[in-house]
Amino acid sequence: MDADLLMTTRAFRRRLDLTRPVARHDLLACLEIAVHAPSGTNRQPWRFLVVQDVDLRREIAAYYRKGFAAYLSTRTPRADQLGDLASGGRLAATMHEVPALVLCCSIGRPPSDPLRLAGFYGSVYPAVWNFLLALHDRGLGSTITTAHLAYEREVADLLGIPFDEVTQVALLPVAHLLPGSGAAGPRRSAAEVTQWDRWST
Ligand SMILES: Cc1cc2nc3c(=O)[nH]c(=O)nc-3n(C[C@H](O)[C@H](O)[C@H](O)COP(=O)(O)O)c2cc1C
Repeated sequence: MDADLLMTTRAFRRRLDLTRPVARHDLLACLEIAVHAPSGTNRQPWRFLVVQDVDLRREIAAYYRKGFAAYLSTRTPRADQLGDLASGGRLAATMHEVPALVLCCSIGRPPSDPLRLAGFYGSVYPAVWNFLLALHDRGLGSTITTAHLAYEREVADLLGIPFDEVTQVALLPVAHLLPGSGAAGPRRSAAEVTQWDRWST
């Protein structure tokens, strides 16, 4: 297991090379790794829509920016979240320049039953994470984003996605990575967030 790859696969926003195209064969190779993720009863509900067209990217990015601004307006961030939100703002500002926007979708609409809801999203996110790891392993990078989902219907109409049958789960802006530190992300240690046998508050 490559623990270093697992621990240094970050939300890449500032290190995205906006000037270099991303080849389809690289994207497909990483998506091939994505589709080897597990899903409930091996349903493989994921579908991917790769958007490279300049005009479509511009329109998606405009919805993303509106969604991100709305999200920011509802939040009072902690001090340790300010850096993340600043780099989030930069990604929002440059989203249309990211060479490939990979829209990760799931067949069906989110169920209301908690058990089924867990299965719905839990059957797509492992593929998302596999994809991010595979990208990083090849010198590419992305960030899981969801802010455009405030405009999911508008983006569905734009891209011809049948809204009643397909749910957009995450928008992954993919680019080659510029040189950078490759440090692990700030995380609480496993010991801090793990309890044994009984929950104590
Ligand atoms: C479900 C989910 C939704 C997210 N949505 C956004 C988003 O809309 N925009 C964004 O810039 N980052 C988004 N992120 C990225 C997180 O901010 C990032 O993974 C987290 O801050 C850790 O970053 P790090 O690995 O670089 O430390 C999202 C992450 C997850 C898991």
